[in-house]
Amino acid sequence: MPKNRVPFGRRAFLLGLGVLAGAGALAVADRSEDGTSRTTLTMSGEGSLRERATRKSLIYGAAARYKTLSTDSDLAASFVKECAMLVPENELKWNVIRAQPNSFNFAPGDWMANFAKKHDLLFRGTPLVWYKSFPKWFESKVTSQNAEKMLVEHIEKVAGHYAGKIHSWDVVNEAINIEDKNPDGLRNSPWLKFLGPDYIEIAFRAAAQADPQALLVYNDYGLEYDTPAETARRNAVLKLLERLKSKGTPVHILGVQAHLLRRGNEMSDFNPATVKAFLDDVASMGLKIMITEIDVTDEKLPKDVAARDRIVASAYEDYLSVALENPATIGVLTWGLSDRSTWLTKNKPRADGAPVRPLPLDAQLNRKLAWQAIARTLDKAPERPSQHQTRT
Ligand code: XIL
Repeated sequence: MPKNRVPFGRRAFLLGLGVLAGAGALAVADRSEDGTSRTTLTMSGEGSLRERATRKSLIYGAAARYKTLSTDSDLAASFVKECAMLVPENELKWNVIRAQPNSFNFAPGDWMANFAKKHDLLFRGTPLVWYKSFPKWFESKVTSQNAEKMLVEHIEKVAGHYAGKIHSWDVVNEAINIEDKNPDGLRNSPWLKFLGPDYIEIAFRAAAQADPQALLVYNDYGLEYDTPAETARRNAVLKLLERLKSKGTPVHILGVQAHLLRRGNEMSDFNPATVKAFLDDVASMGLKIMITEIDVTDEKLPKDVAARDRIVASAYEDYLSVALENPATIGVLTWGLSDRSTWLTKNKPRADGAPVRPLPLDAQLNRKLAWQAIARTLDKAPERPSQHQTRT
């Protein structure tokens, strides 16, 4: 095992100790570099993730769906209590917002923007450009001849509609796919096919014009683990960001999705030094960092809920401890708040049929060990200067 890796079993064990310490104040063992116990910290109080993050001038928020938020008042109440930012999970995607080529359906997104305003939440948009979630008409209507016009018009309309209400936009989502074997690791998206690599810059420039206030994000997944595949992805993302910066492209944030344990076997592939070095490289380009979609897939974890929750919490704690240490990191968003509404129910169901438990709150909206882990990493995070999470 490489020197910097913290043995996973040891960490799960330490978290287990925290659980035994029990109610109210949770005693946790801090780890020295070899994973052995060093000090005992106490996390006290019931303060929400929102409060804990805000104390450090960080943002904690989550994704939610219009249908859930507008019909499930208990979930909505927990959301408002725990979160300082709302991200529409699907409502601003092409297939929802532009189901017809020439009309835009802003209703669900507007409802969510109003919910955010009413409850004093920041509002975030995702994505303006993606290789997925196209409406049915896309294939027959978009060609090399009109692609740039379609793309720019879409960004003008959508980012323009929400201008002044959006903290940050995922302008381009998931543009890297090494397996496609294109130069620079770019994904074979329809946009690459129609416009070549310049589509990314075109999109950022259009977004900056349409909403001069929003922070503009390049967002991607598979940047967390120390495997050859993810090392290649990290390098491709760094190269892409360098290229964009060198051309003066208005990109302000790297969004790291951080869907952890997606394949279920990455536990031993977590290397804090690798994550740290990557985020340092991003920050050295003058970019901010946001953890945009974190959750922990429990598809292949033990069925026993207590054991499973410990492993999930441990994955959050390991990753966020490193990510929040970086002064350029401005916030953490989980991809959902409660296990009662998570994309992983469909996307990564368990073979044994047990409900998945990837998020900070359980299906009854109780705080889980994952919540405690996120709370602890926020409490440990160095304080940021105020306003650092907005455009400076
Ligand atoms: C997912 C949603 O959660 C699902 O409900 C939808 O069916 C598909 O998209 N990376 C992203 C998100 O950038 O937009 C994806 O959201 C999850 C992976």
